Amino acid sequence: MAKTVTVKENESGKSWTYPVLSGSAGPDVVDIRKFYADTDMFTYDPGFTSTGSCESKITFIDGDNGILLHRGYPIEELAENCNFEEVAFLMLNGELPNAEQKSKFEHDITYHTMLHEQVRSFYSGFRRDAHPMAVMCGVAGALAAFYHDSLDITNPAHRKISSYRLIAKMPTIAAWAYKYSLGQPFVYPRNDLGYAENFLYMMFATPCEEYKVNPILAKAMDRILILHADHEQNASTSTVRLAGSSGANPFACIAAGIASLWGPAHGGANEAVLTMLKEIGDKSRIPEFIKRAKDKNDSFRLMGFGHRVYKNYDPRARIMSRTCSEVLKELNIKDNPLLDIAMELERIALEDEYFIEKKLYPNVDFYSGIIFQAMGIPVTMFTALFALARTTGWVTQWNEMIEDPQQKIGRPRQLYTGAPKREFVPLKKRK
Ligand code: SDX
Repeated sequence: MAKTVTVKENESGKSWTYPVLSGSAGPDVVDIRKFYADTDMFTYDPGFTSTGSCESKITFIDGDNGILLHRGYPIEELAENCNFEEVAFLMLNGELPNAEQKSKFEHDITYHTMLHEQVRSFYSGFRRDAHPMAVMCGVAGALAAFYHDSLDITNPAHRKISSYRLIAKMPTIAAWAYKYSLGQPFVYPRNDLGYAENFLYMMFATPCEEYKVNPILAKAMDRILILHADHEQNASTSTVRLAGSSGANPFACIAAGIASLWGPAHGGANEAVLTMLKEIGDKSRIPEFIKRAKDKNDSFRLMGFGHRVYKNYDPRARIMSRTCSEVLKELNIKDNPLLDIAMELERIALEDEYFIEKKLYPNVDFYSGIIFQAMGIPVTMFTALFALARTTGWVTQWNEMIEDPQQKIGRPRQLYTGAPKREFVPLKKRK
């Protein structure tokens, strides 16, 4: 017998029954698409804590058990055994590539890493101290002005080339934002380097001398990009889907995603973690900040802790923590005061009743900043790296939304608590 849920209204005694849909994993959903037509009422769920916005086959999170799957593969397996290009192929196509597919995909992405020369002039419009996320928002959206030949979102070939261009060009856009902030010349991508290695090359090479990317750091960056690639219907991905549901072009949708990711409650948290660790300054001050984080009247939150879905350790944070140790060892950084504070903060928080009761664990952003700083990446670039990696997830989710036969323009309703209809008051009669 098909599972259903019945809603009964106490005043009228009326009731309505709705089908329950089951996925391949995770909670069932109540299909309430007819709820308003039936009941003349809306459901109410600010922040979408109990609302599924779509059907998806890309990523699955089991928050209670700290499990993250991409197309069914555990993040730990992908981070350990794949490079970023393989994971990007898996996201876009639903299957891991064979050797030939991997090589062709890497080639195709590589040959789209350059930016149109006119894009350079967008950078000179910014102040040198512009936040890189402002630059990425602007430049990513501006790319739509360069590809009029492939903006028909109903054309699979246009969707594919736009997806490849966005994935391929985001590292160049991000690296050039960094170079521009330094006043250094832009470094062009190289076709003989992998995705993560090319990004580090464009970040740190100069025209003055040969620059070889440290392979350990390239591998660490590659793994970090994998960890940030996609994460179900988070705020920025939902933003991309909602923007795309109106038929907006993919470059505009990704620019919207970058804007949403910038927030400190979301992708901006990695930058906020570093700022917080610097503000704590010494392990002796940790109890003071833990106290503030627990104080309802204090807006301070422990950045890099907590998650809407994970009520267990974020599996990405575990891998980030291991990667952090590897990078610091490779760079021969013996004592990193910020890492010491972070590890002590994590130890204390995980033993604290408040954090245990509210199931607050370190999330993906907790360690990333320490790694990036050790690599010589400035704090302002941290969220830009998150955006660079998440572009693959955004693009994949955007394609899935466009190809979904049930897709409609997203148009939420509301609970109106404003002024009821009233007489207009002409200016001369207003007090
Ligand atoms: C990312 O959604 C995703 O998948 C996002 C992401 C991705 O890959 O896309 O995983 C990336 O955004 C990770 C999260 C990065 N943000 C931070 O680290 C910022 C700090 N964390 C919090 O702002 C918060 O935990 C959120 C925003 C992440 C989640 O907030 P929720 O789900 O809305 O939870 P909540 O704010 O309702 O918190 C539940 C309770 C509250 O207390 P009560 O009102 O129930 O008494 O826990 C408390 C909160 O006050 N709480 C914290 C806390 N996070 C939640 N208290 C202290 N420090 C914190 N960090």
